[in-house]
Amino acid sequence: MTIRRKLSLVLAPLALLACVQNATAATIEVVKSPYCGCCTHWIDYLRHEGFEVNVVEAEDVSPTARRLGVPDDLRSCHTASIEGYAIEGHVPAADIRRLIEQRPQAAGIAVAGMPVGSPGMEQGDRRDPYQTILFHRDGRRTVFAQH
Ligand code: CU
Ligand code: CU
Repeated sequence: MTIRRKLSLVLAPLALLACVQNATAATIEVVKSPYCGCCTHWIDYLRHEGFEVNVVEAEDVSPTARRLGVPDDLRSCHTASIEGYAIEGHVPAADIRRLIEQRPQAAGIAVAGMPVGSPGMEQGDRRDPYQTILFHRDGRRTVFAQH
């Protein structure tokens, strides 16, 4: 076996690994109230899912949500942003990944309220149905995912 062949055998898996790490290394900034516990559960969940999380504590999350274009009726307890998109509430990691992969023309996605069974809102086996909504600055919205 030539040195070059040996080298490529060693390097190929490393390149693949770097790729996988890049895919999950997007940083998400989460603005949360210092008094809310479920936001922390969601943040732990995101880290477990491979996201780099930057936490910003704020007494009032509303100005951030407004700036990012989150409609009032889709509000939850925390407001995050990643690659220019707003992520409101207890959104599953798979939805965030799909959003930044597909990069639709939109302001962001939201899981309104605090549905039991969504990431960070676990209560035993109870799982209430909920939707992830894709929203636009002009008020348009569509269902992004059904859970
Ligand atoms: Cu919450
Ligand atoms: Cu919370």
